[in-house]
Amino acid sequence: MADFVGAVDQGTTSTRFMIFDHGGNEVARHQLEHEQILPQAGWVEHNPVEILERTTTVVRTGMQKANLQASDLAALGITNQRETAVVWDRKTGRPYYNAIVWQDTRTDRIASALDRDGRGDVIRRKAGLPPATYFSGGKIQWILENVDGVRAAAERGDAIFGNTDSWLLWNMTGGVDGGNHVTDVTNASRTMLMDLESLQWDDELLSFFDIPRSMLPEIRPSSDPNTYGVARWPGPLGGEVPLTGDLGDQQAAMFGQVCFAPGEAKNTYGTGNFMLLNTGTELVRSENGLLTTVCYQFGNAAPVYALEGSVAVTGSAVQWLRDQLHVIKTAADSEALAASVPDSGGVYFVPAFSGLFAPYWRSDARGAIVGLSRFNTDAHIARATLEAICYQSRDVADAMAQDSGVTLDVLKVDGGITQNALCMQLQADILGVPVSRPVVAETTALGAAYAAGLAVGFWKSTEELRDNWNESQRWQPSWTAEQREEGYGRWKKAVERTLDWVD
Ligand code: G3P
Repeated sequence: MADFVGAVDQGTTSTRFMIFDHGGNEVARHQLEHEQILPQAGWVEHNPVEILERTTTVVRTGMQKANLQASDLAALGITNQRETAVVWDRKTGRPYYNAIVWQDTRTDRIASALDRDGRGDVIRRKAGLPPATYFSGGKIQWILENVDGVRAAAERGDAIFGNTDSWLLWNMTGGVDGGNHVTDVTNASRTMLMDLESLQWDDELLSFFDIPRSMLPEIRPSSDPNTYGVARWPGPLGGEVPLTGDLGDQQAAMFGQVCFAPGEAKNTYGTGNFMLLNTGTELVRSENGLLTTVCYQFGNAAPVYALEGSVAVTGSAVQWLRDQLHVIKTAADSEALAASVPDSGGVYFVPAFSGLFAPYWRSDARGAIVGLSRFNTDAHIARATLEAICYQSRDVADAMAQDSGVTLDVLKVDGGITQNALCMQLQADILGVPVSRPVVAETTALGAAYAAGLAVGFWKSTEELRDNWNESQRWQPSWTAEQREEGYGRWKKAVERTLDWVD
């Protein structure tokens, strides 16, 4: 009897494997970081082979920690950092180049050219995305144009592309011995290459980036029995397990937070912040700088869409305090340092390290710390960093309300920084709505497990999953309306200072 479901969560900084029981409780986990390769300003790469090796290790170790065998798992789900592009050789299994990560800005010329000749508007209309360095299309084009031999290999049908879900699924299902080259609708919706209505690769969009169709994986639903094949991983799993769930990590967090009804939203705090609002089967086009994206698709049912506010730099700004400024030793220390002062002392920090994503979409922006006086210390900068995380979420919450007419009465949150109680209090203060964190904060992995388990009947319905969701903590707003508007006004002024910095 299989009493558990496993999930691989291949994230920007680490890969984890988690095992859940029927109640959605964590049974075991193992997690390993991988190297952030920063060859030059604005470039961010990962080694796909290292990611694959780390995945193998975390699965093996997680299974050992739980003392389980493959037959104990009803299904396996996968979720991943989205947009990050891997191109590899289907004959040798070797990547042609490092994975180009979603934060990488090397394609800024490719992206800005799209808006000079009308292609940008076609991308907005068909793919629901503003042309930006963020998405996979320009990254594939860059590899085709800059890595020796890839264009010819792609024309021959040997060079194939995937986000890290596809890379892992291909390897898990056999690799060079017939691995399945597949992805799901949510990952495909982050490439600028898929038509949001047909859920198929679109020839006109492919032509904008000169990408041969043969490079692209087959697009499947996010949750479906036998969707992705069978994990044949004798090493880590010790047997075969059906792979029945695949979705991008932010969409997986929607599952984990049980946001299955139109109007339900969550905000995930990882390297960046990602707020998604379920808009049901209706495709809502943003007028305010949000993305229209696929939220999930169950089998052959109609897809469910979401509006998304993607913010590039939030948790990574705290890492920057730790690794580059050395003002804290661990990310968690940011809370004590920021709490040692009553406010940010007039300092505002806009961490536009990768330009600004939603709702601004300005690749010409770069980070700025403004409002400094001799009085300020590292504590004010730490507090301004936490506030920046929250102000950026306020920016996207306001855009979401304008686009959808939905004003949140509570914000469901998850992800690493939600352990920072000061940051969550600031979030409630800056938004003016209560902030609620669930008991299982690992909603991304949980969501991938839910997608996989629903497909095989381990869970019977989304209602059953709702019963698993319990609140662990809630923060109430404490600022006055005047404080809130004064702070937000200054934030907007600080944002202005970051624009037009890069030619
Ligand atoms: O779109 C990028 C996002 O999927 C990355 O999420 O949690 O790995 O920072 P995370």
